Amino acid sequence: MTTETSLQKDVPLCGLNDLEDLCAMELIIEERQLFAVRQDNSIFAYWNLCPHRNSPLNWVPNTFLDVENQLIQCALHGALFEIDSGLCIAGPCSGDNLQPVELRCEDQFYYVAAGQKMPPAPVNLRAQALADLEDRE
Ligand code: FES
Repeated sequence: MTTETSLQKDVPLCGLNDLEDLCAMELIIEERQLFAVRQDNSIFAYWNLCPHRNSPLNWVPNTFLDVENQLIQCALHGALFEIDSGLCIAGPCSGDNLQPVELRCEDQFYYVAAGQKMPPAPVNLRAQALADLEDRE
């Protein structure tokens, strides 16, 4: 069973100048992964869940963009997403959207904004399998 939770307080993400243009960074908040990409003078952030299979988009840390650094690319099946909208424009989930993370900007420093709903915590399959084994004994 999963329960929806809301973020209780702002969480510091990064300053605009901490991230180079068309570079990305990851952050984990209460077991949920998110990533942020700088494009021009804005930062866009999304929960790290591909709408195709609800799995993380990246295999390599802090690496989310395609080879031309123009689009967000899922490493699993290659879906491509616009950086500024999260819209999937090619791939198996074409037309779907990444889930945006609400940010708050103050003096060019970005925070993950309090009050927003967080996606369900990932299921720990290993712990679940071990618990199932113990139940059988
Ligand atoms: S999991 Fe992302 S395209 Fe399939």
